[in-house]
Amino acid sequence: MIAPAPSDTLMEDIVGLCKRRGFIFQSSEIYGGYNGFYDYGPLGVELRNNIKQAWWRDFVQCRDDIEGLDSTIIMHPKIWKASGHVDGFSDPMVDCKESKLRYRADQLFFAPVSVNGETIGYVSVVECIDQQEVAEKAAAEMKRKMAKQGELDTIELKEYTEAKPEQYELIPSPATGKPGSLTEPREFKLMFETKVGPLADDAATAYLRPETAQGIFANYKNIVDTGRVKIPFGIAQIGKAFRNEITPRNFIFRSREFEQMEIEYFISPSADWKTLHREWIDTCTDWLVSIGLPREGISEDIHPEDKLAFYSQATTDLMFQFPHGEQELWGVACRSDYDLKQHQEHSGKSMTIFDETVKEKYVPHVIEPSLGVDRTLLAVLSAAYTEDEVPNDKGKVEKRILLKFSPKIAPVKAAIFPLLKNKPELVEVAKRLHKKLQRRWNVFYDASGAIGRRYRRQDEIGTPFGITIDFDTIEKDGTVTLRDRDTCEQRRVTEDELIKFLEEQIDG
Ligand code: GAP
Repeated sequence: MIAPAPSDTLMEDIVGLCKRRGFIFQSSEIYGGYNGFYDYGPLGVELRNNIKQAWWRDFVQCRDDIEGLDSTIIMHPKIWKASGHVDGFSDPMVDCKESKLRYRADQLFFAPVSVNGETIGYVSVVECIDQQEVAEKAAAEMKRKMAKQGELDTIELKEYTEAKPEQYELIPSPATGKPGSLTEPREFKLMFETKVGPLADDAATAYLRPETAQGIFANYKNIVDTGRVKIPFGIAQIGKAFRNEITPRNFIFRSREFEQMEIEYFISPSADWKTLHREWIDTCTDWLVSIGLPREGISEDIHPEDKLAFYSQATTDLMFQFPHGEQELWGVACRSDYDLKQHQEHSGKSMTIFDETVKEKYVPHVIEPSLGVDRTLLAVLSAAYTEDEVPNDKGKVEKRILLKFSPKIAPVKAAIFPLLKNKPELVEVAKRLHKKLQRRWNVFYDASGAIGRRYRRQDEIGTPFGITIDFDTIEKDGTVTLRDRDTCEQRRVTEDELIKFLEEQIDG
C-alpha cells in the first residue's frame, strides 16, 4: 500500500534524498555553502535537462506559431531602465536590529493579541504552512504569561507591509520574540549588479537579467524582420535568471540563481485576449500533468484587479501543492503592449508589425506564460516521492523509497542487470543490450549486489524500468524480464517488444 510521506517531513526527505543520490547539492558546500545557490549533480542535471527538453519540444518544436531564442544574460543596461526593473524591481525588506536577521515584509505577518477587546500585545510569524496555528499558540502563551482572564479574540494576521508606523515599535521580532527591534519596511533592489568593461565607474554598471523575458522583447524586432512569423505568434526562451532574493528558502523553490522557461505570445490589440488567456492557462496545466504532476495538486490563483500592475490586464498563477504549502509555479500574465511600447520609446525603434489579415500596422499585445525550471523540478520531485512496503529477496516485507517519475522525464530510463555478475554469458548479453539502448536513452548497467537491492537502488532514483538478463534469456528464448518500478510486476518480453515498449513509454 502506498503511503505518501507526511508533508511536514516531505521537504526534509526530498532534500536528504537529493543529496544522498546526487540530484542536488548546496553550492560551495566545501566552504560551508552559499545561501540561495544550488548545484545539480549527475541525476539532477539529467532530470533538469529532460524537463527543459520536454518543454522545448512541446512549446517550440511541436508548434508552428512559436519560435525559439537564446539571448545573453547581460544585456544593455538601458533595457532594464526601459522595462522598469532599474527603478521598480524590488521587494519590501525589514531588518531585525538585534538579531541582524532580514525578512521580506510581505512574508512576515503580525496580529494584535486582544482579550475581550483589550489589546495586550502583538505576535509575529514568518510565512509558513501553519502560520495561523503558530500565531494562535503564541497569543495563548502571551495571555497565560500576563495572567489575563477572559476570551482571546480571533487572531487576524496581516502582512507587515500593512503595519501602521505606530505599530512598528510594538510588533515583536520573530527572531527575538521582543518588540521594538524591527525596522520599517524599505525597498530592496533585487537585480544583481556587475561592471562591464575596463573602467569600473557608474557608466559601466550592468545587470544579471532577473527574467529572460526582456531578452525576448529586445529581439522581437529581429524575429519579426526575419519574416517567419505572423500574428499571433510566440517567442520562447529557456535560460538563467538572477535575483538577489532577501530570503531565499524552501530548497530550490526560491533561489538567487535559477532558470526560467518563458514565452511571449504576441496577439492583435483587438484579439479576444480573455479567451486566449484562458487557453494558455489550460495548455500550461495540461503540460504540467503531461510531465507527471497530479491535476488535483494544481490550482489557479487569479490576481485581483486592484493588485495588478498598471499595465497588466490579468494574471493567473498556476499554484502547486509543494511540501511547504500551495505556492506559485507558473505565472500566466496578459501584459498588454507595455513592454514593447517601453522599448519603442527608449530605443527609438518601431515595434509595430504589419498584420496581413486586417492590413493594419500595430504594436501587438502579449500573453506571457513564465515558468521556473527549478520550481518545476521541485514540484516533480514532491509529486514523485513515495514510500511503500515491498517484499525483499527473502520474502520479508521492507520499507521502500521510490520516485515515481514519468518515464518522459526520469533521469535514468531503464537499468540493465545480469542476474549474476560472475556468469560471463549473462554479462555479455546484458552489456550488449546496455550498449544498444544507450545509443537512444540514458540507461544504466548494474551487476553488483543481490538483484532485489539493485532494483531498490533504481527505485530510489526513479528509474521506471528494470531489465534483467537471466538463464531463460541465454538458454531458452532470448526474452528478458521487464520490471515495473511502481507495481514491481515482472513479465517476460522479447528484445523487439522491449524496444517498442520503451519507445512508447519514454518518447510517447
Ligand atoms: N517575466 C515574468 C516573470 O519573471 P515571475 O513571476 O517573477 O515573472 C516567473 O517569475 C516564474 O519564475 C515563477 O512563477 C517561478 O516559477 C520562477 N521564479 C521566480 N523567482 C524565482 C526564484 N527566486 N527562484 C526560483 N524560481 C523563481
